[in-house]
Formats: sequence, structure tokens, C-alpha cells
Amino acid sequence: MTKILHIDSSSQTCGTSYSRKFSLQVVQRLQDLTGGEIVSRDLVRSALPHVSDAFVEAMFVSAEDRTAEQSLALALSETLIGELESADAVVIGCPMYNYSIPSALKAWLDHIVRARRTFVHTPEGPRGLLRDRPTYIVTSSGGLYREGLGTKVDFLSPYLTAVLGKIGLHDLRFVQVEGVALGGEALGAALERVEADIASVSFVAHAQSAYAN
Ligand SMILES: Cc1cc2nc3c(=O)[nH]c(=O)nc-3n(C[C@H](O)[C@H](O)[C@H](O)COP(=O)(O)O)c2cc1C
Repeated sequence: MTKILHIDSSSQTCGTSYSRKFSLQVVQRLQDLTGGEIVSRDLVRSALPHVSDAFVEAMFVSAEDRTAEQSLALALSETLIGELESADAVVIGCPMYNYSIPSALKAWLDHIVRARRTFVHTPEGPRGLLRDRPTYIVTSSGGLYREGLGTKVDFLSPYLTAVLGKIGLHDLRFVQVEGVALGGEALGAALERVEADIASVSFVAHAQSAYAN
């Protein structure tokens, strides 16, 4: 059975979130195209703790040498990494908060990006240990960041590209809902562009690559 991991991180949980709306649309489109089970991880409705003192201590001890207590400190991290490892495709709903990602999503990353578990240090820099797989990042922002001056303060897409690449996820496809604060025609055009992207031939080809490997 193939699996789609669906992650949401918008604080808006009452139906007004664009990243939630369109990340769900991407998940449903993937499921229509390729089938599969959906595993949902809502980082706001079920918030993760920040990594703890015990977590940091345990992550520097090799798996064979860990005490039962140290293994327990990494249990949540192992569950989250396991969800990622068993997914054929990943869909992440990510609003822009202060030019970057929400802290809810950062907490998830702190649990899953672990030296000697999901990446290793090499003389050439970090090398990811996870199998690459199609990863859709559905962003939503009040302003415009894909071109012009906005590109200089978009720390969201370069950051996610770097940190997901660090663990081996390079096959990223961004679906960007931009300018929601502008409203009117600009927002209407942005929403149309996103709908067209999700319906596009290139989206279908990308989705089908999830099951080609
Ligand atoms: C805490 C917070 C910080 C925000 N920071 C930015 C920002 O830096 N740039 C921007 O364009 N929009 C910003 N916004 C607007 C959101 O990106 C926008 O409302 C987006 O649609 C939120 O995603 P959602 O609809 O999925 O909740 C911010 C909103 C909040 C709540």
C-alpha cells in the first residue's frame, strides 16, 4: 500500500487557511492519480514539544550505546522519521510567518533532521540518508515573494530547500499561494494559478514519478 504523508502547520484551523485548503487539494489530487493511504500529521492540532535536554544528550550517543532512557528521549523523533521513511510522497502545508516557516513546522524539523540518523557529515558537507521522494510544499503568504523585491526576504523556500535537501529530499515542488493580503483581482489570479498548477500535465507527471521508483 502506497502512502502520502500530509503535514499541516497553519495556526488557522477553522477553515480560513489557504495552505491547509490547497495542501488538502494536492493530497486529494495525488490520491486520485496514484491511490494510496493518507497519513496526516497536523502540527498545530497536535503540537510537538520542542526538542529537550534529554533529546540532545541522546542524539549524540550511538544507537547501540543508548540507555533505555535515552532511547525513550528519541522515541517521538523515531516515530516522526518513520512516518517520513514510509511515505511515497510528502505534502507540507506551510504558511509564511515573518518571512519564514511557522515554529510548529520548525519543531517537526528539529525532531527529524538528526546527524547519523537522517543525514551524515562528510568532507563535502552533509549527505542525506533518506530516499528521495516527491515532496510538495504548499505555501501561503500575505505578500509576493516569487519575483521582485520579495525574493530578497523569502527565507521560507530557500530554507526548506536546504534543510529537506540535507536529509535527502531534493525532489521538491512548490505550490505557492501568494498575495492573500492583497485581496481582489490579485488574489483571484493567484488562486486561479494555483488551481491550474495542481491540474497541470507537469503536476500529473511529477505525481506519477512517486511510484515509478
Ligand atoms: C504570525 C504571522 C506572521 C506573518 N508573516 C508574514 C510575512 O512575513 N509575510 C507575508 O507575506 N505574510 C505574513 N503573514 C500572512 C500569512 O502568510 C498569510 O495570512 C497566509 O495566508 C497564512 O497562511 P494560511 O492561510 O495557511 O494560514 C503572517 C501571518 C501571521 C499569522
